[in-house]
Amino acid sequence: MLILAIDTSCDDTSASLMDFKAEGGAPRIISNVVSSQAEIHSKYGGIVPELASRRHNEMIWPVVSEAMCGAALEELAAIAVCVGPGLIGSLLVGCSFAKAVSYSKKIPLAGVNHLEGHILSVFIEGAGPGFPYVSLVVSGGHTSLYLVEGFLRYRQLGKSRDDAAGEAYDKVAKLLGLGYPGGPRIDRLAAEGDPGAIRFPRAWLPGTLDFSFSGLKTAVVNFLKGQSRPYGQGLVRDVAASFQAAVLDVLMRKCQWAVKKTGAGNLAVTGGVASNNALKNGMNELALKMDTGLFIPSPAFCTDNAAMIAVGGFHRFGAGRLAKLDLNPKASLPL
Ligand code: KG4
Ligand code: ZN
Repeated sequence: MLILAIDTSCDDTSASLMDFKAEGGAPRIISNVVSSQAEIHSKYGGIVPELASRRHNEMIWPVVSEAMCGAALEELAAIAVCVGPGLIGSLLVGCSFAKAVSYSKKIPLAGVNHLEGHILSVFIEGAGPGFPYVSLVVSGGHTSLYLVEGFLRYRQLGKSRDDAAGEAYDKVAKLLGLGYPGGPRIDRLAAEGDPGAIRFPRAWLPGTLDFSFSGLKTAVVNFLKGQSRPYGQGLVRDVAASFQAAVLDVLMRKCQWAVKKTGAGNLAVTGGVASNNALKNGMNELALKMDTGLFIPSPAFCTDNAAMIAVGGFHRFGAGRLAKLDLNPKASLPL
């Protein structure tokens, strides 16, 4: 069954056509088109919401049309769309488009939570983990741990009390003059720096599986205040590596605790930051040490994509949890 999925939650316009087998198993990825807006927002050092929704408006039809790969809308078994959390103006573009297609072509509509999409991104390229499994969603908007008990059955174990890890990457990159998006740039520079050069703080929040990254960001601000400008390349690399070490220490330790606490046999790491090279290496070592299965999607399915929304749509469709035309996106939407 063919499912067209759309995600316009933030600054990427994405559409994907996926072919699912009714009995389940890995789907066939026919397309996963992502139109990035990074160039538009990079000169502002972050996303400008109004510019993001205007660009979605321009790109939604070309992106969907490319994703359809010549198939007719009438061939679709369902259309799935991200309903939040995200930027409301951006979400509205995707939702309005999906509702219009659903209404005009009489195609069932499913609304999918963006976080649910990231959690289910480990089922795009293969059969995925067995249940229950621990899922760390680590992106620009969220850093949360879930116990996934089954499709559509998620229990939150912990979340960030302030900044998301990706947000911290982007802010530190901006402080270092590296531009937006900062995550991939810090990833590259950190590989050449000394992770032990500066001892940045780790917020352990003992007894909880919550996270906090705003203190770490402030520690980087304070450290840089004492340095002369322009910063030397060696300093930038060491700050990047030491900052990254502080983030990864906490992410790995909390995953370890979550797996231990729940007794889950598998761990999944998803969201934009999951494409980080040092994080992947660290998680691999952790999984080996704990004898746990580890699932991290390919980079294209870690960052925002519509294929993950298609997986959520398929399971909502199967469970009969469809949306009606009064479906409205929400900027803040807990799972
Ligand atoms: O999942 P995503 O595309 O969007 C949200 O749902 O937020 O994640 C984007 C975030 C950004 O903060 C970006 O800097 C970060 O993921 N990111 C990375 C890397 N690639 C993207 N962070 C660290 N290392 C990377 N390689
Ligand atoms: Zn995302």
